[in-house]
Amino acid sequence: MKLTVIGCGYLGATHAACMAELGHDVLGVDVDADKIARLSVGEVPFFEPGLSDLLRRNIDAGRLAFTTSYPAAAEHGSIHFIGVGTPQQARGLGADTTYVEAAVDTLVGHLRGDHLIIGKSTVPVGTAAALQARIDARTDDDTTVELAWSPEFLREGFAVEDTLRPDRLVVGTDPDAQCSAAVAVIDEIYREILETGVPFITTDWATAELVKTSANAFLATKISFINAISELCEIVGADVSTLADAIGHDNRIGRRFLNAGMGFGGGCLPKDIRAFMARADELGAHRTLGFLHEVDAINMRRRTAMVELVERVCRRELIGANIAILGAAFKPESDDVRDSPALSVAGQLALRGATVTVFDPKAADNARRMYPMLHFADSARTAVAAADVVAVTTEWAEFVHMGPDELDPLVRERVIVDGRRCLAPHIWAAAGWEYHALGGVNRSHSPARTTRVTSDNPHARARLKTI
Ligand code: UDX
Repeated sequence: MKLTVIGCGYLGATHAACMAELGHDVLGVDVDADKIARLSVGEVPFFEPGLSDLLRRNIDAGRLAFTTSYPAAAEHGSIHFIGVGTPQQARGLGADTTYVEAAVDTLVGHLRGDHLIIGKSTVPVGTAAALQARIDARTDDDTTVELAWSPEFLREGFAVEDTLRPDRLVVGTDPDAQCSAAVAVIDEIYREILETGVPFITTDWATAELVKTSANAFLATKISFINAISELCEIVGADVSTLADAIGHDNRIGRRFLNAGMGFGGGCLPKDIRAFMARADELGAHRTLGFLHEVDAINMRRRTAMVELVERVCRRELIGANIAILGAAFKPESDDVRDSPALSVAGQLALRGATVTVFDPKAADNARRMYPMLHFADSARTAVAAADVVAVTTEWAEFVHMGPDELDPLVRERVIVDGRRCLAPHIWAAAGWEYHALGGVNRSHSPARTTRVTSDNPHARARLKTI
């Protein structure tokens, strides 16, 4: 099938490559000429495991190309995915949908005949209905454009896997439409995936839009729940990681997304819960999502708690202290520093007078652009040179597997703060290090931890099996 994908960021570029991998003839479209030039030769402008190979393979096979031309997109075919960003508004908590509107307006201006637009961006409920009205007002009698909404649930770092092996497909269509071609078309596009038994949920626009925002709100709530419990654990000396293992064995709860620590960041969860609250307010449901304010507040509090923990355990005043920050990305296997807890902590420590040196295997360039006042090292070993405190802020595998003996000769003080509760405390303690975990004691060397097989952290999982 001939498909276009409008918007070639994380979501769009991955989607275009994956659709080509399914055998479709795909044209990716973006207004950023530099991005299109790089994608056209199989270069990914961000770090996403496996994506570059997928791009190259499909470009070479002639199934995937990129352009900045909307007329070319209109010519290419009659099925158009929209995957442009919906960031937080510059002045407000709501989602900025102007990129979606601009993409749809521009595309529709070039369409003739029958077309289907499938929105994939995360949008406030009601967006699809408003967009369809906008499309209808811009099309003449010989053009019909149907709009469907099919939210995307991919995680950065697992984008290819999540797109090719999703745990469900959701499609929302106009509840008042006399006839809709969308479901049959989407069924055909995803046939290879659907044949594996993936649930295919067809519904109305509003439900589809809400599925996505509710899913992200639930995940954020789960993380803030365990982080709130970790605050109590800190007070009473309990181990929140063991607690998470224990409650996670209840299938109704589940262990995933119960990793306590510095909380959630990135381009999705923080802005999506804020946009969700803002939309509920607009709809007059002021109190309905009030609990998400608390979810957000707990999350932001963990960053300050990490800063305070580092300051407390540092054996000298922060002014004059060297702090090594291991990790800048909002999570491992990503170079994304948007709303990164790691960088927020690094920035706050620098503001309190510490000399902060950051190392991240992939995100350093992005981090440097955002926080020029920090120092950046090109390896973990350089970052920890003469450090008074080593703080692990993103659980990259190389930090999880790092041994105290590697750092011993380099640091000024043997003090380590585990902001992601991803290290094996007994190994550090046995080597004479002072180990501190955000969220209170960490007894992860206890036999119970070896059963943590449902962890979201593959590196921690691999390590735990070896303990
Ligand atoms: C998220 C959703 O998971 C995905 O379905 C949606 O499409 C986009 O938003 P992503 O932002 O890529 O994906 O990252 P995710 O893996 O969900 O992690 C988000 C943040 O939560 C990270 O900062 C991570 O470190 C943190 N996190 C995750 C925790 O603090 N504890 C956990 O137990 C899990």
